[in-house]
Amino acid sequence: ASNAMWGGRFTAGVDAIMEAINASIGFDKRLAHQDITGSRAHAAMLAAQGIITDKDAEAIREGLLTVLSEIEAGKFTFRKDLEDIHMNVESRLKEIIGEPAGRLHTARSRNDQVAVDFRLWVRDQCDATIDGIEALLRAFLAQAEAGADWVMPGFTHLQTAQPVTWGHHMMAYVEMLARDLSRFKDARKRMNECPLGAAALAGTSFPIDRFATAAALGFDRPTANSLDSVSDRDFALEYLSAASICAMHLSRFAEELVIWSSAQFRFVRLSDRWTTGSSIMPQKKNPDAAELIRAKIGRIMGSTVALFTIMKGLPLTYSKDMQEDKEQVFDAADSLLLALAAMTGMVTDMAANRESLEKAAASGFSTATDLADWLVRSLNLPFRDAHHVTGSLVKLAEDKGVDLPDLSLEEMQSQHPGITEDVFTVLGVENSVRSRQSYGGTAPDQVRAQVARWKELLA
Ligand code: ARG
Repeated sequence: ASNAMWGGRFTAGVDAIMEAINASIGFDKRLAHQDITGSRAHAAMLAAQGIITDKDAEAIREGLLTVLSEIEAGKFTFRKDLEDIHMNVESRLKEIIGEPAGRLHTARSRNDQVAVDFRLWVRDQCDATIDGIEALLRAFLAQAEAGADWVMPGFTHLQTAQPVTWGHHMMAYVEMLARDLSRFKDARKRMNECPLGAAALAGTSFPIDRFATAAALGFDRPTANSLDSVSDRDFALEYLSAASICAMHLSRFAEELVIWSSAQFRFVRLSDRWTTGSSIMPQKKNPDAAELIRAKIGRIMGSTVALFTIMKGLPLTYSKDMQEDKEQVFDAADSLLLALAAMTGMVTDMAANRESLEKAAASGFSTATDLADWLVRSLNLPFRDAHHVTGSLVKLAEDKGVDLPDLSLEEMQSQHPGITEDVFTVLGVENSVRSRQSYGGTAPDQVRAQVARWKELLA
């Protein structure tokens, strides 16, 4: 039998394999809510413009609510032969209200219908992501506030560099995540134009009111070019790009947690709620959640690359290739929200090991820069000379198997006779971090000021 929606010029149905490759209902049923919301706004506008009767519009709008309640109750039978969510909903509407259902698609095409549905979905997803990021920001802020003056090693090349504070390290992620937050807010703003009414591609000869449907659906305005309206998927790509960057940030902290929770580091203890054991090695507590968050960037980035690749060669306007946009976004969105929620839980529950942090901070000659700075300040050496003298002191300490503060004054003076007892005041890690008072530096006062600034911004 030919198709009830477009079967006029067909005599036979499609091949079973054609049905399998063509149908999107398996995944686009996730657009049901947005599809029905969009159709209800469209029907109301058609009636307001005198294109259909109020009575038909009322029947359509009520009938659509019945369809929605069936879907939400899990009582709806999704049919593959009806291809997608749009035709599944309309076909069921016809069963419920009869003839008026056929008037809903006046002045509309599935091309603008899917464009508006998908935009609504991605817009909702931006809102959910913004909430998820804010929750994680609060978790990082709480850690930063608690440990504003806990000393830990700062690394470059994963080699001990200079002492920093736990709070400062946490606040680095606050900065990253705050940029992510603003990326999703920006993307949401840009995507908030309504493509409904572009119809198939050229607009319509019916006297529709696109400003009315745009407003009814919470858009700032209708899109301005009908060809662009049905062929644009920038909004999805922008969402995916922001998602990729955010997931990359989550992955970097996940990697740090994997390292920090190891027996070799012992910087943090992860809560039982976010770890698993081993069936053979009783001592094990594995950071699985962190590892899986680290892996999610692979999926999210993969989805982003996939959609760019799908879109890059398509001539205007709609091509069926674009049906493949949804699974990419759905998978990335599910992965990102899950990763954000898991990371929020882990950050909230993790306990820093202050003793290990401080011990590690003091090892590896981490205050060598402070020593060089002291030589500049107290003995007026050029920095390059100070660097050289300090380097020889580090070598001396290394050969003796001790850290810098363990060298005697005589040993210090063997490398530069001007060195005095006062040098030992800058070799402690506490003094080191306290001295980093430059704006954005690691001094606890600076960290507390940043925590206060972000708490106010988030309030
Ligand atoms: N299921 C389709 C999609 O997701 C809806 C649009 C179909 N339009 C068309 N002209 N075949 O893209």
